[in-house]
Amino acid sequence: MESDLARIGISLPSNLLDKFDQIINARGYSSRSEGIRDAIRTYITYYQWMADVHGEREGVVTMVYDHDQRGLLVTLTDIQHEFNKIIKASLHSHVTHNRCLEVILVRGDGADLKAFAERLMSQKGVESVKLTTIQVEE
Ligand code: NI
Repeated sequence: MESDLARIGISLPSNLLDKFDQIINARGYSSRSEGIRDAIRTYITYYQWMADVHGEREGVVTMVYDHDQRGLLVTLTDIQHEFNKIIKASLHSHVTHNRCLEVILVRGDGADLKAFAERLMSQKGVESVKLTTIQVEE
């Protein structure tokens, strides 16, 4: 279990903090700190789960991004061409005038799938990337 408490100071865009506050209020957290601790635990669990993705896998990458972010469309296309050996198909939905949702069907070595998802995730203007996979061999 966690024991010693350390204090940190973080800077956030105010609209991000507003959204976070709305969620923690709706979920009934007693404080922002409690919500942030929970968010960090979820992030760690997700990352550890991603690190477990290995062997032959098939799955989907779900990505939401800002269509208006300068250069992002070209960059995302370049990354997909670079990883063309693992991409089987993709589906694009123009959600609003500037937000896009893309679902990419992937198959290959888990490490490659994870590297692909992480590359997408690290681009500025990409709001979220989720990788969900299943093992090919039972
Ligand atoms: Ni679009």
